[in-house]
Parts: sequence; C-alpha cells; structure tokens
Amino acid sequence: MQKINLTQFIIEQQGRHPEASGDFSGLLADIAVACKAIAGAVARGALADVLGSAGSGNVQGEEQKKLDIIANSTMVAANEWRGHLAAMASEEMEHILPTHQRGKYLLVFDPLDGSSNTDIAMTVGTIFSVLKHPDPNRDPAPEDFLQPGTQQVCAGYAIYGPNTMLVLTTGQGVNGFTLDRSLGEFLLTHPDMRIPEDTSEFAINMSNERFWHPPVQRYVAECRAGKSGPRGRDFNMRWIASMVAEVHRILNRGGIFMYPGDTKDPAKPGRLRLLYEASPMAMIVEQAGGLAITGHERLLETRPQSLHQRVPVILGSKNEVERLAAYHREACQPLAA
Ligand code: F6P
Repeated sequence: MQKINLTQFIIEQQGRHPEASGDFSGLLADIAVACKAIAGAVARGALADVLGSAGSGNVQGEEQKKLDIIANSTMVAANEWRGHLAAMASEEMEHILPTHQRGKYLLVFDPLDGSSNTDIAMTVGTIFSVLKHPDPNRDPAPEDFLQPGTQQVCAGYAIYGPNTMLVLTTGQGVNGFTLDRSLGEFLLTHPDMRIPEDTSEFAINMSNERFWHPPVQRYVAECRAGKSGPRGRDFNMRWIASMVAEVHRILNRGGIFMYPGDTKDPAKPGRLRLLYEASPMAMIVEQAGGLAITGHERLLETRPQSLHQRVPVILGSKNEVERLAAYHREACQPLAA
C-alpha cells in the first residue's frame, strides 16, 4: 500500500481541528524542511568540510562542532520569516531569538544532539518542542518559554543514522516518518509507535557510577547481578552517547535510559537540558505508553526556572521506570524508630 507523506498526514490532522488556521501545519512543514537540510549536511560530513570543532563554545561552555552551528542556523533560517513563530530558543543560542513576525508559537530546539558523534559517523539528531506564545499581542520574553512539559503543543526529533527519520507527537500518539531520498519526502513508516512495558535493556553512562545517588546505584546493581540477583534475569546494556538514538531504540523495542542527577558537579543537577532535550523526549515517551521522571517527580511537571536549565532524566519502559520511582520513594522514607 502506498505510504502517506508528512504533508498529507499534517493536512489530515489539521482537518480534525476545524478551528485550525494552518499555522501549526505550516510550522511542522518548516521544521521538516530544516531537518532534511541538516540530514544532508550530516551525511556529507568530511566531503563538505563540516566535521570537527568550530573553535567556539556554547552558553554552557561546551565545545561547539561546526555541525552544531550549521544545524542551528538551518533551523533558524527555515523558520524566522515564515510567520508561525514569535521566537525561538536553542542550545546553541544564549538568548531567545524573536522572529520578524508575531506568530502564535515558540520553538525550542537542540539542533544537533549527541554532536560529539558527528566526527565518528555515528547517529545524531535534532530535538524540538513547540509551545504556545502566552500572549501573541506582545513581544516574546524569555519567561514565555518557561512552561512545564505538559504545555507542549508538539514534540519531536529527527534522527540522522542509517535512515533519516522524523518522529513526532501532537498529543495523540507518536508517529515515525522515514525520509525517502528519491522523493525528498518523509513517509509514514512507523504509525502509532508504542514502547513495550517491560524490558531487559538499560542505558546509562557507567563511568559515572560512583557519583550516582543510592536509588540509581541500587537499580543498576540489581540489573547487573542478572539471573542470580534479585531480578532473577539477565539484562543487557547499551550506551550510544546520543539521547536521540537511545530514545529511538527504546521507542522501537523498549528499554530504559538514565542520565540521573549525580554528585559529580554540584552546580549541575543533571546533564540534559530540560526545555529542548528532556521535556520533548518525555512527551514522546509518555505518548508512546512509557514514563519519564526526574527521580522523584514526573518530568513533564517540572517547572523550568531558566532557558538552559539541566535536569535528571530517567525514561522508557513503564514498569522499569516505575521501579526506579519506587526506589526513590523508598530512599526518602524516614527510618523506623
Ligand atoms: O548533550 C546531550 C548528550 O550528548 C546526549 O545526547 C547523550 O545522552 C549525553 O549527552 C552523552 O553524555 P556522556 O558524554 O556523558 O556519555
């Protein structure tokens, strides 16, 4: 059967909302165009001289790769004159970027997640989240972006691996589209993606073990103990160092991903950024039947305090995330007298 493309999918969805003006559909189409262009740059790699460091740092003091900057300006260029947005914010921009028109929406994105992987031809991706501008009659301010994840209108990512895919949710399940390079179109190949509730696969950067808090140490120790431990079965471990790739694996075959809070650097309550990494991924995971927590609270209910805030992240198959939530609760119980 012929597969429907992203444009047809968007028009069909828009048809279910008679009040829709077409702005949101236009915005999604613009994001998709940017992702195709970024996929092209990532794929050309050394041939286009886009690998390696840009010789600069981002607002968090991390080294910027050339592709970080290219991906950021591609997303900005695809959106800034189109009229759907009031402002954008990204990992690679210290301040918000108001657009030239007063659109209804705000776009926040990580232009190239896992960018240390670009130089070694490994999977990377773009993560994005769409919020409503609380008052389109006035200029956007940084505070307008500080909305909990439950307020997201849409969340998605593009993954640049052996296939380029766009995976998104508007709050009615998760759908995955694969880029057909011969047509230049994203085609719906993964309708209604669901995360299995159980898993025997976990992903965490084990080198940080000594810095983790006790509930995470306990959980991972039990997984590693395998058949002879309290879980009574063997677990497998994966670490790709690209959150997009980890979440994509989990959406396809289940699993749990953790970048928990730790004691490594007291100034950082986690590694991943709330607004443009954790929140959109949490919405996707929940919409696919999984769960996402910080440890003690539901990730989507975390109230952002600042644009580039970091947060602990534990997400994936429901029953494993629930187990970790229980370990966190137990760790807080006062000791019996
Ligand atoms: O900055 C985000 C990120 O690249 C994620 O995509 C990934 O999960 C994580 O950082 C990798 O961290 P580490 O370098 O500790 O493996």
